[in-house]
Amino acid sequence: MNKIIIGNWKMNPASQKEALELFDAIKAGVKDAKAEVVICPPFIYVSSLKFPAPRGARLAQFHGRQYSRLKLGAQNVFWENKGAFTGEISPAMLKSSNVKYVIVGHSERRKYFGETNEDVAKKLQAVLEVGMTPILCVGENEGENREEVLREQLAGVSGFRLQASGLIVAYEPVWAIGTGKNCRPEDVKKAMETIKNLVGDVRVLYGGSVKADNAQEYLEVVDGLLVGGASLNAEEFIKIVEKGS
Ligand code: PGA
Repeated sequence: MNKIIIGNWKMNPASQKEALELFDAIKAGVKDAKAEVVICPPFIYVSSLKFPAPRGARLAQFHGRQYSRLKLGAQNVFWENKGAFTGEISPAMLKSSNVKYVIVGHSERRKYFGETNEDVAKKLQAVLEVGMTPILCVGENEGENREEVLREQLAGVSGFRLQASGLIVAYEPVWAIGTGKNCRPEDVKKAMETIKNLVGDVRVLYGGSVKADNAQEYLEVVDGLLVGGASLNAEEFIKIVEKGS
C-alpha cells in the first residue's frame, strides 16, 4: 500500500495569503507523488485551498474537488453535528467542505484543551459516522511507559469497527514533538506492534520532529508520517513526500 504523508500546519501560517502560497507550492511539488498527501490547515483556510483537478478531467466538473493523491484534512472536530456549541466545527461541516481526514486527540489538544480519552472516543465515532477517516494520535510523555499509555489511550476505541473504517493511528511520542528529539525507529516499530495488537491491522504513522533527512528511516517501519514543523516549509515537505513515493 502507498505511504501516506500528512502535513499538520497547526496554528500556522499567519495569513490567508501565506496559506495559499504555501499550499500552491506544495501542490506543484507533489503533483506526481505516488504517496498520498494530506494537508491539514487551520479551519479558517479549509475552504480557500483549491485542489487540482484529476488529469484529463473537465475543470468545470471538478472545480474545487480533490486531486486523487492530494487530500484535505482537519486538525480537530467536535462530536455533535449541529446545535448550540459556540466556536465548534462539526463532522458534517467538515465533510461538506471536502475534508477527508480528521486528526483526533493530538497531544496538543489533550495538553492545552484538556481533551480526555472519552472526548477522543466521541470524536472518533462522530468522524467515522459521517464517513471521514480519523487519524488518532497516541503517544507517551517523557518518562512515561509507552505500552501502558498506548493501552490506556486505545482502550476506549477498541470496540469500534476500526479496520473496516480505515482508521489511521499516529504514534507521536509527546517528547519528540517539535523538540528535534527523535524516537529510535526500533522503538517506533515496537509501538506499531503494540498498536496493532490492541486495535487490529490499522495503518500506523509516526510523528515527532520528522524532517527530510530522517523521514526514510521511519518510512521503513511505518505506513506514513505526520509532519508538523517541516510541513510549513514547502521545499522540505516535498522532499519528505518524495521519500514516501
Ligand atoms: P513536529 O510535529 O513535526 O513539529 O514535531 C508533529 C505533530 O505534532 O504532529
